[in-house]
Amino acid sequence: KALLEMVQLLVAQGVKQVPEKFIQPEHIRRTVHEVGAVCSDMIPVIDMAGLDGDNKDQVMADVAKACEEWGFFQVVNHGVPPVLMQEIQQVSKDFFALSPEEKEVNKIKPGTSVGYGRLFETGKTVANWVDRITIWSYGEQSRAEPCMPPKPERFRQVVDEYSEAVVKLCMRLIETLSTTLGLEPHILGEHINVKTVGLRTSFNYYPPCPQPELVLGIMPHADTSFVTVLQQDETPGLEIEKDGQWILVPPVKDAFVVNIGDLLQIVSNGKYRSVMHRVLVNNTVGRYSFPNFFMPPKETVIQPVKELLSETNPPLYRSLKFAEYISGFYVKPLTGRRLIDSFL
Ligand code: SIN
Ligand code: FE2
Repeated sequence: KALLEMVQLLVAQGVKQVPEKFIQPEHIRRTVHEVGAVCSDMIPVIDMAGLDGDNKDQVMADVAKACEEWGFFQVVNHGVPPVLMQEIQQVSKDFFALSPEEKEVNKIKPGTSVGYGRLFETGKTVANWVDRITIWSYGEQSRAEPCMPPKPERFRQVVDEYSEAVVKLCMRLIETLSTTLGLEPHILGEHINVKTVGLRTSFNYYPPCPQPELVLGIMPHADTSFVTVLQQDETPGLEIEKDGQWILVPPVKDAFVVNIGDLLQIVSNGKYRSVMHRVLVNNTVGRYSFPNFFMPPKETVIQPVKELLSETNPPLYRSLKFAEYISGFYVKPLTGRRLIDSFL
């Protein structure tokens, strides 16, 4: 039986030239000059411990500014134990070290968007230089269709503990953002029915690439979540687009990268916007990253919070079911355009 065409296999075979299907058109390709060219300590780092202290108002103001100006920020002292973050990294390395046959036990089934294998690939667009497994790690869908890999043995247990801690962090973020939007802390959570929201987690491995300037780890895209909480390792790669420039999100030890997703853009009636980002690869070290997408069940209706609307701030988005919003996202290629712009 033919094996999936994973990047890891190509690298193990010692390819010197990347296959055609990974080569980005010239206008999308990065130039070597861009890497690290833009000062990279610009993205705000928020100390969440400050949300409980005397300094609370200042921290809230920093969060508000980060959401309005960047759509991306990093958090430290976020409550997820660093040892769990290390364990997630370890079980992921153990997973990717399995044989191809063992990994493929859990391959993506047609019509679903969880499992091991390639998403966003139709043969018509350029392939991303990444291997990935995606699971539902928390909530209703994690009970219906978890797609946990059977190996390594510790995977499920570590994911269970980790996702619970990450969901707590997401809840706290939603409360914080409710406040920064000018609402009582509980309003945003009630509006999105936060108790039913679940977590979808990806485990990304970007193997070293012999010609990194020709490929992208992930094409430019914006996330479809409420918020995404990303753990990245110490290897830089993630960049966000701001004012027409690509800006590196530098790895910060034990931090999570938080970004606003499309759904929060709708719910906040455009006050907070989801931001385009992409991933670069390099030719020396592999990179691991673990985005946790905080997402509602399919039937949830998404619409702007009414308390934010007024005659001068009419709704920018119609109300729609999450299922309608998301349909096709995981089976269509990433086009480099924002999905949300087609709903305006
Ligand atoms: C993603 O945007 O899905 C991945 C981000 C990353 O690898 O840093
Ligand atoms: Fe993303």
